[in-house]
Amino acid sequence: MSNQKKLWSGRFEKGLSGIVEQFSESISFDRRLYRQDILGSKAHSNMLVEAGLMTAEERDAVHAGLAEIQSEIEAGTFEFRQDREDIHMNIEGALIERIGDPARKLHTARSRNDQIATDVRLYMREEIDALIQRIRSLQRALFDLAEKSRDVILPGYTHLQRAQPILAPHHLMAYMDQLDRDMERLGDCRRRVNRSPLGAGALAGTTLPVNRHQTSEELGFDEPIQNSIDAVSDRDHIIELISACAIISMHLSRLAEEWVLWASEEFGFIKMDDSVATGSSIMPQKKNPDPMELVRGKTGRVYGHLMSILTVTKGLPQAYNRDFQEDKEPLFDALDTVYACLQVTEEFARNIEFNRARIEASLGQGHLDATTLADYLVLKGLPFRSAHAVVGKLVHIAVNRSLPLDKLALSQFQAECNLIEQDVFDFLGVKNCVRRFQSYGSTGPGPVADQMAAWKSRLTGP
Ligand code: ARG
Repeated sequence: MSNQKKLWSGRFEKGLSGIVEQFSESISFDRRLYRQDILGSKAHSNMLVEAGLMTAEERDAVHAGLAEIQSEIEAGTFEFRQDREDIHMNIEGALIERIGDPARKLHTARSRNDQIATDVRLYMREEIDALIQRIRSLQRALFDLAEKSRDVILPGYTHLQRAQPILAPHHLMAYMDQLDRDMERLGDCRRRVNRSPLGAGALAGTTLPVNRHQTSEELGFDEPIQNSIDAVSDRDHIIELISACAIISMHLSRLAEEWVLWASEEFGFIKMDDSVATGSSIMPQKKNPDPMELVRGKTGRVYGHLMSILTVTKGLPQAYNRDFQEDKEPLFDALDTVYACLQVTEEFARNIEFNRARIEASLGQGHLDATTLADYLVLKGLPFRSAHAVVGKLVHIAVNRSLPLDKLALSQFQAECNLIEQDVFDFLGVKNCVRRFQSYGSTGPGPVADQMAAWKSRLTGP
């Protein structure tokens, strides 16, 4: 049995079982909310003074005590106690020890239910802002790589089969667009995060004359949550943020998968700097893309956290239930994991380069120019479906002779379609193909330069 008296133990005759105490503590993981908890307590005590529920001197003592506790936590000298359960009780308990009665007024018109909801929202707000910065930074790294490889032509794939030639920057900017939507999602989620539950009390609000608008404003929230039950009951924003994290992970995992493939001998599209590759303990020749494999692998735990929070919240009646304590570890780990994955992906992006020689050597394979040849016939007046059939036959001939299309003789082209003239050779080969793309958002040099110019101005902004 725990021998320390709990702050809530008035009605109890016996202490809490040690087993239960250890099972139900959250200080081991919610201590990371100390700063937000102190911020909330400072705003709350300021408001209590305005409401006539605390004197200015008492508030000053509370603030000084909280500041002292904060420095001790940051210096690593504060003693976190499991018997005080969570971050709220640890700080309040320590404050009472230090300054006595003024600290006993701090929990006036407040419950841990609105307190934890406030702390987590403040924490999420900061984390969202940090994630948005990280995403921007990764976009910059991708953009730098795109600029360095402006003229690199890659085989584009569908079904992982060679399809049409594309410019490397076009491919890289597709990742950047995915990441942009992630930023939008985070920004959208932030609007719902940034509302204040403080002053909702346990669930019903309070009979005391508090001013929830004041604390909301002081803490930088957009507004107080209008329903006190919803204020302590809502965990939608946590689900949303983990969901946004899961989508970011999915994007990073797709990118990781491609880069792992690209680093292989079979593709040979990228060269990794030694600083971002790892060796094998047995095979001396190996140089592995481990960081990107781990980015791909860590997606699993983020998806797991999403399933976890969805399951924890299902079936819970309105208002606070202790089950909610289980929302924190999934949230923290999803945020930590995605942050680290963004960071390592950026590090990788900054330390790879395209293997131009290898890429170019294989561009003749896969008849990447076949669709452009069909477009050529369309320009000559043939309906597209007929052009498709003609080119299909030409590809068949080329495959049988193991030749690229541009190595067939004009007479062979003309045997299939008499609309074909000498100028067909200006349409064949990947270089000719790529420069002919001109539709909005396509892979031609013009549209790609437009995309890059648009990105450049966005990336030089905030
Ligand atoms: N540690 C709790 C949590 O994370 C704080 C709120 C506890 N409230 C309560 N009434 N037991 O959810």
